[in-house]
Amino acid sequence: MLVTGGNAGIGKETAIALARLGARVLITSRDPRRGAEAIEEIHTRSSSASAEVVPLDLADLASIDACAAAVQDRTDRLDVLVDNAGLMLSQRTETRDGFETTFGVNHLGHFCLTGRLVGLLRHGAPARVVVVASHAHKVARRGLDFDDLQSTRHYRGFSAYARSKLANVLFTLELARRLSGTGVTANAVHPGYVNSRFGRDGDGYERVISLGGRLLAISPERGAATSVYLASSNAVDGATGGYYARGRPAAVSRAGRDDVAARRLWATSEQLVGPFGP
Ligand SMILES: NC(=O)c1ccc[n+]([C@@H]2O[C@H](COP(=O)([O-])OP(=O)(O)OC[C@H]3O[C@@H](n4cnc5c(N)ncnc54)[C@H](OP(=O)(O)O)[C@@H]3O)[C@@H](O)[C@H]2O)c1
Repeated sequence: MLVTGGNAGIGKETAIALARLGARVLITSRDPRRGAEAIEEIHTRSSSASAEVVPLDLADLASIDACAAAVQDRTDRLDVLVDNAGLMLSQRTETRDGFETTFGVNHLGHFCLTGRLVGLLRHGAPARVVVVASHAHKVARRGLDFDDLQSTRHYRGFSAYARSKLANVLFTLELARRLSGTGVTANAVHPGYVNSRFGRDGDGYERVISLGGRLLAISPERGAATSVYLASSNAVDGATGGYYARGRPAAVSRAGRDDVAARRLWATSEQLVGPFGP
């Protein structure tokens, strides 16, 4: 099983829980030191020595290709891919390939990585893709702005984040449709409001809502529960195209059920990062 952003927060707790269940877990990390520290903690807390780290920066298409190649070197099948890594930034920045970073990392990076690994998932079938989205997708009420997916005209961190999470929901919808009948399922998750490091890097509104709401937040361990459920429970065998929170199906916004937008996002993503697939 592979968990992106498994060196911190919800991803690390997901990796620990899956390792406790007996899975061989690969985590990704941008930073080798943080990755190595996480592996040590995963081994200690899961009493399993089977976790490994693979370098990945989702803001760099070359790094995504290298990560997929490294995973292919280590295994010929994947049972579970958890697209978990994510960020929210108060200032607009761009990835190495020139995409607005929130959209580039949260959506395009995972679109590209999932495509590179879909062969291993098909080989592992029955296999599962779990996409960590957020109820924040509901804030993007008007849907995605296909005329300005890169937020060049106007940027607000939380709005860009909400649209990137809507992209996660639409990606899951279309992925499930395309993988129907292959034995590979795809479901999205809202982890809850989680007391992780999320949003703390910013200096504006995003940092305020991140720090201000900490009293209401649940632990990263509890935040990982629905991802772990979708990755491992027999209760969701064959279930696909769903959105879950607190371990059960949850409502998506109207914009998150828009099949036309889901197909358009897929086609646009392929134009931006190349064809989905190995
Ligand atoms: N926390 C919440 O309340 C909440 C609510 C709803 C949804 N979520 C979603 O849950 C997921 C996990 O968030 P979290 O709360 O665990 O946050 P976190 O503690 O900040 O962890 C985020 C993870 O993503 C990684 N990451 C960030 N940018 C990356 C990049 N360019 N390439 C590769 N990895 C990158 C981080 O790596 P580094 O350690 O190198 O930064 C870290 O491992 C995110 O998708 C987030 O949108 C969180």
